[in-house]
Amino acid sequence: MILAFGLNGQVGQALAAQPGVCALGRDAADLMDPGACAAVIDKMRPDAVINAAAFTAVDRAETDTADAMTVNAITPGIMAQSCAALGIPFVHISTDYVFSGAGSRAWRETDTPGPINAYGHSKWAGEQAVLDAGANAAVLRTSWVFSAHGQNFVKTMIRLAKTHDELRIVDDQIGAPTSARAIADAALAMARAMMGQGDLGGIYHFASTPDTSWAGFAQAIFAHLPKAPQVHKIPTMDYPTPAQRPLNSRLDCRKITKSFGIKRPDWQADLADVMAQLMQEETDAT
Ligand SMILES: NC(=O)c1ccc[n+]([C@@H]2O[C@H](COP(=O)([O-])OP(=O)(O)OC[C@H]3O[C@@H](n4cnc5c(N)ncnc54)[C@H](OP(=O)(O)O)[C@@H]3O)[C@@H](O)[C@H]2O)c1
Repeated sequence: MILAFGLNGQVGQALAAQPGVCALGRDAADLMDPGACAAVIDKMRPDAVINAAAFTAVDRAETDTADAMTVNAITPGIMAQSCAALGIPFVHISTDYVFSGAGSRAWRETDTPGPINAYGHSKWAGEQAVLDAGANAAVLRTSWVFSAHGQNFVKTMIRLAKTHDELRIVDDQIGAPTSARAIADAALAMARAMMGQGDLGGIYHFASTPDTSWAGFAQAIFAHLPKAPQVHKIPTMDYPTPAQRPLNSRLDCRKITKSFGIKRPDWQADLADVMAQLMQEETDAT
C-alpha cells in the first residue's frame, strides 16, 4: 500500500483515485503536527509514502510564514525521517516557485534555487529537509497544477467568463500547466520504481508541454466555452499581488524521462478532459 498525504487537494484527489493508494486528509494527519504525521507512517507501515499536502496559499504565506514553514518544510523532513527508519521510499511534491524566475532557459535540477516569495522559501526548505533525512527520497517539482477539483486557474477563468466580456491576464510569466492526474501518475510511477531500486532518489522536474503564459492558458480554456471573453495581455507589473511571482517557470524535464521513462504529457489533452468533466458537472447540477 502507498500512503499519500493531502487527500483533499488537487493531486491528493488524483492519487486517491488510483488503486493501492491510501490517502489521508487533514483530519487524519495534520501537517501542523510533525510528530502525529510520523506516528501515522510508523503505524500504517506503508510500502512507500507520497506527500501531496502543502500550504499552497502563495499570497497568505507572506504573512503566515511560520505555518507555511511547518507544513512545507518541518513536517516533510520528519516524514522523510520516518521513511528512512522504515526503509521505504518517500516522494515529496515541490514547485517551480523555488526558482527566481530569471532568464528564459528551462530550469534544470542542478540549478540553484533562489525563491522570491515566502511560499517558495518554505518549499525549498522542505526539499532540503527531505533530501537530508537519509531516506530513499525524491523531490518532484511541478508547475501550474489544474484539475476539476479544488481551487485553480481553470475554475477561476470559467467563473470569470460568465460575468466578463473582457479580461486582463498576465502574459509574461511563462510555464507549463500540468494536470493533477499527470502528477499523481508520475509520483506513483516513481514511488513504485523506487520500491525496487535504492538509487533513484534526488530532484526531478515534471511539467506538461508546451510552455505557455497565463494569458495563453486562459485562451486555451476559453476555447472550450460557448461564450469567451476577450483577453487583454498585461505584464506582471500591472497585476500586483502580495507575493512576487517568478517570470520564468520553464522546467527542463529530461532527467525524469531518463531515470523513470516518464514523458511530458500534453496539457491541452488533459485540459480537454478536465473541461469535459466540469461541463458535465454543471449540466448535472441544472
Ligand atoms: N497548485 C499549484 O499550482 C502548484 C504548482 C506547483 C507545485 N505545487 C505543489 O503540488 C503539491 C500539490 O498541490 P495541489 O495543487 O494539489 O494543492 P492543493 O489543492 O492546495 O492541496 C493541498 C492540500 O494540502 C492540505 N494541507 C494544507 N495544510 C495542511 C495541514 N496542516 N495538514 C494536512 N493537510 C494540509 C490541504 O488540506 P485542506 O483541503 O484540508 O485545506 C489540501 O488538501 C503541493 O506540494 C504544491 O506545493 C502546486
